Amino acid sequence: LKAIVPPDSELLADSLQHSLSGGGKFIRPVITLLSGLALGGVIPALVETAAVSEMIHIATLLHDDVLDDAAVRRGRETVRNRWGNTVSILAGDYLLAQASLKLAQIGNITIVGLYSQVLADLCDGEVEQIRSSYQLATPWESYFRKSICKTASLFATGCEAAAVLHQLPEAERQRLKDFGRNFGLAFQIVDDALDYTASQEALGKPVLDDLRNGLMNAPVLLALENTEAGSAAQTELRGLVQTIFDAGRQNEPIAEEVLLRTRELILSTGGIDRTLRLAREHVKRAVDALSFLPASEAKQALESLATTIIERSN
Ligand code: FPP
Ligand code: MG
Repeated sequence: LKAIVPPDSELLADSLQHSLSGGGKFIRPVITLLSGLALGGVIPALVETAAVSEMIHIATLLHDDVLDDAAVRRGRETVRNRWGNTVSILAGDYLLAQASLKLAQIGNITIVGLYSQVLADLCDGEVEQIRSSYQLATPWESYFRKSICKTASLFATGCEAAAVLHQLPEAERQRLKDFGRNFGLAFQIVDDALDYTASQEALGKPVLDDLRNGLMNAPVLLALENTEAGSAAQTELRGLVQTIFDAGRQNEPIAEEVLLRTRELILSTGGIDRTLRLAREHVKRAVDALSFLPASEAKQALESLATTIIERSN
């Protein structure tokens, strides 16, 4: 990753250096590489493919921080905050261009097709999110479409790419893809819960950010679903979410007590417990999808990684 920072453009080099050294979890390349290991070994093309997954991920963050007006990411100032929106977008584009170059060098047309579809999915997911934002009545169908496209697709493709490079038959390739998709969904669902339960320090970004951005995420959807229509708790929660949405849409500050009460209600109505239960269901589906693989340390690592993402704190 460090090798792709261009030496002759200071602005691009500095902004890319900043975003590439943010110290993320590297979870996308990790599951790509572990999938390859579980299939018999990490071949050089897979290392490059794993890098492509991370490059695309960082590119989306550079673009996403512009869309979300985010000032902080991974506990540090965002590129857009320091160098401006234009540089953030162009640094993301540069990363995408470098990822395309890497895909060309790998020279496997199926892998090129898979990652092209990921890029389309990422845009699709983001647009679906914009379409459904600030809407209390967001349907589950929209939530899952957004989450599959925006998050799970990149996880699924990393795992599927490992199967392609190891020339697995179609049915087994689908199983690994299924693992990645359910892993990614669980990851996103836990992310939704962390927005209410983690501290800003642990998360490296502001809490209750989704609601501030008009997003009906899993905890709020499940909290509302878990309360009776017209009950005091549901009426209060709906009112609070509407207040946050109205302020968010006008870019107005939101009173601390409104945020705290919303968090309290979502917790007390079982929104977080049910969210973690939903995440566990997807972890189970992910682990079940791996049953065709022979026992190995890598398979075990994939399984335990899937299980531990439920307990993650950032
Ligand atoms: C983070 O979401 C954003 C994504 C996972 C995808 C963003 C996709 C785009 C901006 C469109 C396509 C971009 C490219 C480069 C193809 P979040 O805001 O929920 O997460 P956060 O809390 O970490 O910011
Ligand atoms: Mg964001």
